[in-house]
Amino acid sequence: MPTMLITGVSSGIGNALVRRVAAEPGWTVIGTVRTVKPPSEHGLPDATFLYSFEASDADAAAALAGRILAEHGCPDVIVNNAGYVLYGPVEETPLERIRDLYQVNVFSPISLIQEFLPTMRSRGSGTIVNVTSLGGRLVFPFFTNYNSTKHAMEGYSEGLWHELKPFGIRVKAVEPGYVATPIYRAMDDRAKPTGPYAKSLSAMNRFSESITNRSTPEQAAEETWRAISDASDKLRYPIAAYARVMVRARALVGSMTFMRFMNRQWLGK
Ligand SMILES: NC(=O)c1ccc[n+]([C@@H]2O[C@H](COP(=O)([O-])OP(=O)(O)OC[C@H]3O[C@@H](n4cnc5c(N)ncnc54)[C@H](OP(=O)(O)O)[C@@H]3O)[C@@H](O)[C@H]2O)c1
Repeated sequence: MPTMLITGVSSGIGNALVRRVAAEPGWTVIGTVRTVKPPSEHGLPDATFLYSFEASDADAAAALAGRILAEHGCPDVIVNNAGYVLYGPVEETPLERIRDLYQVNVFSPISLIQEFLPTMRSRGSGTIVNVTSLGGRLVFPFFTNYNSTKHAMEGYSEGLWHELKPFGIRVKAVEPGYVATPIYRAMDDRAKPTGPYAKSLSAMNRFSESITNRSTPEQAAEETWRAISDASDKLRYPIAAYARVMVRARALVGSMTFMRFMNRQWLGK
């Protein structure tokens, strides 16, 4: 019976992915949440195994992996989905907050991968899915810190793809565009910007508000499931609203032309 571990299943894409995978016959689904309640209280099927996991804690991934290895063995698929957004000017973001962002979005998934890799390698199979972002292929102003974590995971995923291919382990970078989830709450405390970046922040806020046709978490989960169950060795999967079109547009016109054009769209200059 194949087993999938998905981090961050309390809401959004992770939550929808658990429900999507549970609809497939034969899968055991293990999810992580910060505070464990019965699965139904998280809107999840009763058969979901839930573990508590606080990714800000540098030791949590090893502890989680130890428990899962003891209780379920090594998962066939690991989906590093948990993550969050920091929004605001680089100049105004305390280093402490950026450190935590890197801990949760970069070091925690890396640590989890390292914990499970020896077993995956020795049995010659496994799939590692890193939920990166469209913001791992390009960068949105004021999402700079967040997008830099996703660029880190894009590069990491590509290197891992090379290293693990000889062992039969697949690596997938799933790159969502706009998905309507609570992750964008991070923008709320910048709703009325002040200071030297106020004008650009207001413009960026207006641009974000204009993106109304976001994908649903269920649509994103469906595309993620297709990436996971795709038997190919393909690495990158832009999914959900705007991801494919923006990646293609940048490749088509070149990065500088794309950046100058988008800078006018985003910041109105
Ligand atoms: N939504 C989008 O448009 C979009 C676009 C590109 C990439 N993504 C990526 O997709 C993934 C899922 O995001 P989402 O949009 O579904 O957002 P979401 O609904 O906010 O889900 C994020 C999940 O990560 C968990 N998480 C956050 N910080 C954590 C921490 N310190 N320790 C443990 N768990 C933590 C959250 O738990 P809590 O509920 O406890 O906070 C939640 O379960 C993220 O990696 C995100 O960067 C999303």
